[in-house]
Amino acid sequence: MRSLTPNDTIGVLGGGQLGRMLAMSATQLGLKAHIYCPDDDCPASQAAAAFTKAAYTDEKALQAFAAAVDVVTYEFENVPVEAVAVLQDSGAEVRPGAVALEKAQDRLVEKEFVRALGVATADFHAVDGLDDLEAGLARIGRPAILKTRRLGYDGKGQTRLTDKDIDLHASFEKAVAFAWDEVGAAPSILEGFVPFEREVSIIGARGHDGEIKLYDPIENVHAGGILKTSTAPAAITPEASDRIKDAAVKILTALDYVGVIGVEFFVLTDGDIIVNEMAPRVHNSGHLTADACAVSQFEQHIRAVAGWPLGDPARHSDAQMENLIGEDVDRWRDAAAAPGACLHLYGKREARAGRKMGHVTKLTGPA
Ligand SMILES: Nc1ncnc2c1ncn2[C@@H]1O[C@H](COP(=O)(O)OP(=O)(O)O)[C@@H](O)[C@H]1O
Ligand SMILES: [Mg+2]
Repeated sequence: MRSLTPNDTIGVLGGGQLGRMLAMSATQLGLKAHIYCPDDDCPASQAAAAFTKAAYTDEKALQAFAAAVDVVTYEFENVPVEAVAVLQDSGAEVRPGAVALEKAQDRLVEKEFVRALGVATADFHAVDGLDDLEAGLARIGRPAILKTRRLGYDGKGQTRLTDKDIDLHASFEKAVAFAWDEVGAAPSILEGFVPFEREVSIIGARGHDGEIKLYDPIENVHAGGILKTSTAPAAITPEASDRIKDAAVKILTALDYVGVIGVEFFVLTDGDIIVNEMAPRVHNSGHLTADACAVSQFEQHIRAVAGWPLGDPARHSDAQMENLIGEDVDRWRDAAAAPGACLHLYGKREARAGRKMGHVTKLTGPA
């Protein structure tokens, strides 16, 4: 793998806020960011040296992009694998590679991969039709969650099946048919509901040479399927923290990973841990690293994909990050004035409901 030198260019597939923050970190390190995104005026393009506006199916544009950059990375995991293949055929190195995408894009493949490493997941059942869903419910019981295997995010593409739902629909058959309809009758996975005590994530990085650096676990609270707050340190035992770190190391190593990964966990009351899902990219719960650590997850990712030494993930401050979702962003002026608060806005023009518009990280004391 080639190492980049200052003034080289990092190509980023995807133009959202994660790409924006990656571009800012690349710029800090004297590298250039070139964003590839189908949308005009995307958050990342506003912060990047170059921007290609083209579809992920546009082979010519992908070939030109491959020729213009020194390495390619991505800021969302639903990059079509065909686009990655075109880039690789055009001589581009894509980091993290296609294997990480393949595992993380499909919830069934992902769970099988995690289990094969000896790490626990929720009980699951593959669902390709109503019969599978009924059989899965009979085996797993209720409550359960039906999730599309692909393309779900922020709680989209999933629906719960509880005893109450079934009462509401007057019959088991109707409730099951409704749930199947809710996920668009797409290939799905039924998961047993995990009665977790806390949700925790870990942000980890692996460099070219296989070196691994992990941030401390972060505690997350979701509302309506969307991340609301992330707090470091997480209120978990040192044993639970060690289990989470072990799982992250296993995953990074098995994927022969280069870059930053975010892995989401459920922590049970007895301290056992269960992997929920992984994101082969920088992660929303890691935003607080930008203000609470010497080297942020964004800089760490750029260092890793550039083939540079990884930075120190130690936290100098304890912190809590709050996502500004939809019209929460109207509070930006107050957030800017609050003591110890670090404001980040993403340059999105329209504050639609459920849309991540920015975040604010409060530093709550020395670590
Ligand atoms: N099996 C489960 N048991 C309990 N809660 C769950 C389960 N799966 C998902 N959730 C809840 O829904 C949230 C979103 O689900 P997740 O699988 O992480 O999808 P997304 O890709 O939308 O983030 C989780 O953070 C958690 O709060
Ligand atoms: Mg999630």
